[in-house]
Amino acid sequence: MANFEIVAREDFSDVTYLLEVRHPLMARAAKPGQFVIVMLTARSERIPLTIADFDGHKGTVTLVIQAVGKTTRQMQQECRVGTSLHAMVGPMGIPSPTTKAKKVVCVGGGLGVAPIFPQARGFKDSGAYVIAVLGFRTKSLVFWRDKFASCCDELILCTNDGSAGIKGLITDGIKVALDRHADIDEVVAIGPPVMMKACADATRPHQIKTIVSVNPIMVDGTGMCGGCRVKVGGQVKFACVDGPDFDGHLVDFDDLMVRLRRYTTVEQAAQERWSESCRMTRQVGPSALDALARGSAEQSELLELPELNDALGG
Ligand SMILES: Cc1cc2nc3c(=O)[nH]c(=O)nc-3n(C[C@H](O)[C@H](O)[C@H](O)COP(=O)(O)OP(=O)(O)OC[C@H]3O[C@@H](n4cnc5c(N)ncnc54)[C@H](O)[C@@H]3O)c2cc1C
Ligand code: FES
Repeated sequence: MANFEIVAREDFSDVTYLLEVRHPLMARAAKPGQFVIVMLTARSERIPLTIADFDGHKGTVTLVIQAVGKTTRQMQQECRVGTSLHAMVGPMGIPSPTTKAKKVVCVGGGLGVAPIFPQARGFKDSGAYVIAVLGFRTKSLVFWRDKFASCCDELILCTNDGSAGIKGLITDGIKVALDRHADIDEVVAIGPPVMMKACADATRPHQIKTIVSVNPIMVDGTGMCGGCRVKVGGQVKFACVDGPDFDGHLVDFDDLMVRLRRYTTVEQAAQERWSESCRMTRQVGPSALDALARGSAEQSELLELPELNDALGG
């Protein structure tokens, strides 16, 4: 039995896919809000992914991934049932704080719907009344509606185009929840930074505690490199060891969004070089792959992925 074997895969859309990975120890240790750092191959970059579900009995951990760049697209292409990830480190980060909240709104936007699930289930298990507010651009992107319906007391689905649930942004869904319930203790929101910022702005006038899960660029995940620093209430925090959950009313989202765009040029270059190497692989066909298997230096060079240092010009 291979380590980190992919035992199930589901494609939610052209860009979003689920991988269920065998890792019995991690499945027993994982807590809501934690994440893993994954390497597809020995030469891949390390990418952080939130644990979207875990099952201690089956010994599996579930990841839901959006193909946005080189590594997540390569994983979308190569991760099939029966294949394995090279490495999966975790569970990392401080688990989401378990509170005594009696009525909670769990907000997930787009891909953020997946990582909010363990939190919704955790609140439900602790006896809270749980309202899920899930937002997607359109009906075809909706996933896990039934999964949330089975563990939440209320489900408010929003789509930007009105093709499913109420028509509107996720903040419209939050407004519905706030109008229905005057006694909400806490809101937890996961999604793109701009969405989490809007959620925090929506709850601020009501002074409802609002927790968000931030997603800065992470490298080592151990608090050593400083890559994941975020400003929270004027203080510098490292999301990998101090978070990733923080008080949404204190997070400097503008700074977070600027930092997330810092490596755009390098990321685009890496993706273009990878796409080009895929295109060449398809063009030269199986004979080139045979040559590669025989160790042909020339063909190896042709099909080799670029090193990060090359992309950085170092
Ligand atoms: C704590 C945490 C949990 C996350 N959970 C998920 C998840 O469950 N599912 C999911 O699809 N994505 C998740 N992400 C984001 C995911 O790590 C990035 O989408 C991924 O690293 C992109 O790599 P790429 O090579 O495909 O794309 P790239 O082209 O390299 O990058 C695309 C964008 O992804 C972000 N990114 C790139 N590298 C990193 C990095 N090392 N760390 C963080 N962000 C990066 C940047 O905003 C960048 O602009 C999470 C990020 C963090 C910090
Ligand atoms: S990822 Fe390096 S300090 Fe957090």
